[in-house]
Amino acid sequence: MDKIAVAVLVSGGGTNLQAILDAERRGELSHAEVKVVVSSRADAYALERARAAGVEAVAVERGKCASQEEFEDGIERAIKNAGAEIIVLAGFMSILSERFTSRYPERIINVHPSLIPKFCGKGFYGLKVHEAVLAAGEKTTGATVHYVNEIPDGGEIIFQKEVAVKEGDTPETLQKRVMQEAEWQLLPRAVELTAERIAAERSAK
Ligand code: GAR
Repeated sequence: MDKIAVAVLVSGGGTNLQAILDAERRGELSHAEVKVVVSSRADAYALERARAAGVEAVAVERGKCASQEEFEDGIERAIKNAGAEIIVLAGFMSILSERFTSRYPERIINVHPSLIPKFCGKGFYGLKVHEAVLAAGEKTTGATVHYVNEIPDGGEIIFQKEVAVKEGDTPETLQKRVMQEAEWQLLPRAVELTAERIAAERSAK
């Protein structure tokens, strides 16, 4: 059986990308294979991680595109060239338009570092999420993986996992714990689950 090709979209360090690549190397992705990594920034360390794993690495820089359409068309070209059917947003810091998301219903997976519907939507990304959790005095937080639709952080939830907030946490220590205990575990599982579903739909036809 051919594996379902996956494109991972990134903007920064790429630890969630690494978690997917590590799961693949350990043989935990029986239905999915990462074929291309697309970064919105040419200097993203995630691109190095892709190359180190022998995966095609492409930069489509938002800043160099005249419009959102041009940016998304560049991303789509890389996705299509790789034959990818699943798109993973792994620390991808641009919001995709409805024109783009509506083409891939239940095929785009996002990881968000909070328990949606808390601390999500426009303006909540990266460390800002953890700063807000600490400012609100929350005792627990966590991560969510979900399908992407036209509402930022509003698509169907695939998995969520709670993580404790500890006395003396800084946004950085909390971010690290949420990644280690939740994001890096949930995201590869969501990729495999989605690939398994697509493979099953295909063989039922
Ligand atoms: C992760 O915590 C991810 O959940 C978050 O950015 C970080 C990226 O880290 N994403 C968002 O906030 C999206 N709304 P990484 O580049 O090391 O995977």
